Amino acid sequence: MRVLDSELMKSYARMAMDGFNQGWHERNGGNLSYRMKAEEVEALRDDFKEGEWRVIGWQKGDESAFPGLAGEYFMVSGSGKYFRNIELDPEANVCIIELNEEGNRYRIVWGLRNGGMPTSELPTHLANLEVLKARDPEMRVVYHCHPGNTIALTFVLPLDSRVFTREIFEMVTECAVVFPEGIGIVPWVICGGRQIGEMTAEIMKKQDVAVWAHHGAFCCGKDFDLAFGLMHTVEKSAEILVKVLSMSPSKLNTITPENFRELNAPFSIHINEDFLYERKSNKIGYVPE
Ligand code: 13P
Ligand code: ZN
Repeated sequence: MRVLDSELMKSYARMAMDGFNQGWHERNGGNLSYRMKAEEVEALRDDFKEGEWRVIGWQKGDESAFPGLAGEYFMVSGSGKYFRNIELDPEANVCIIELNEEGNRYRIVWGLRNGGMPTSELPTHLANLEVLKARDPEMRVVYHCHPGNTIALTFVLPLDSRVFTREIFEMVTECAVVFPEGIGIVPWVICGGRQIGEMTAEIMKKQDVAVWAHHGAFCCGKDFDLAFGLMHTVEKSAEILVKVLSMSPSKLNTITPENFRELNAPFSIHINEDFLYERKSNKIGYVPE
């Protein structure tokens, strides 16, 4: 089967366009990776070519290995490519890469028809995907985007996972149900580098969302719906918080820790207690002692 005719390519392109339509992908902003299933690789193999093996490195001269992903195939967006063009011409903007048996080299087996490289965040995607596969073999999608409200909050909320998560949780009941382990925060660090990649992968060991201060967010999921839906939920809550902050620096009414705990049994979840601290004030951004 041709990659262009596959359900996988269609789902990937739909997610890219959904993200673009949300306004999360100005210019070449954002990137998307998907760890393919063995049966997807087999079905598409006839459409593959053999590119040359390349090192995987965060910086020039740097070489990284992801042994937990050895031999796997990934659908990845191209560096400098625009999400708004993916659905129009997937073959020019997306590629499929294969990792070698040591997990330290990749080659392009499909796509980037007019040349180019996988996203500059490739090592970060692979670091995340490796951690996620160890967490749950069904975890396949890593998504990076630039959602405006979430980014705006990184200028006014403390860059503290506990506080940031709690404020997001309080805006929409659904949040604590969808991501009960909360949001991890990476302070401003240069993007595309090893430090930010390793900090994000550390977060992904336990949490499904990482916010990069003054830049964007990374999230993960077992499929495109779950990864997109997760980002959509975070950003919706961030939008409400921006609206609340534009009216008042504090809240008159809110969801209490006891309210959150009531969600655990009916939704079969366990909201991490780290986020359910008592607050002495309803000022937005309150830091517990
Ligand atoms: P790429 O075009 O290399 O994927 O980079 C976009 C981006 O958002 C970097 O953080
Ligand atoms: Zn980015």
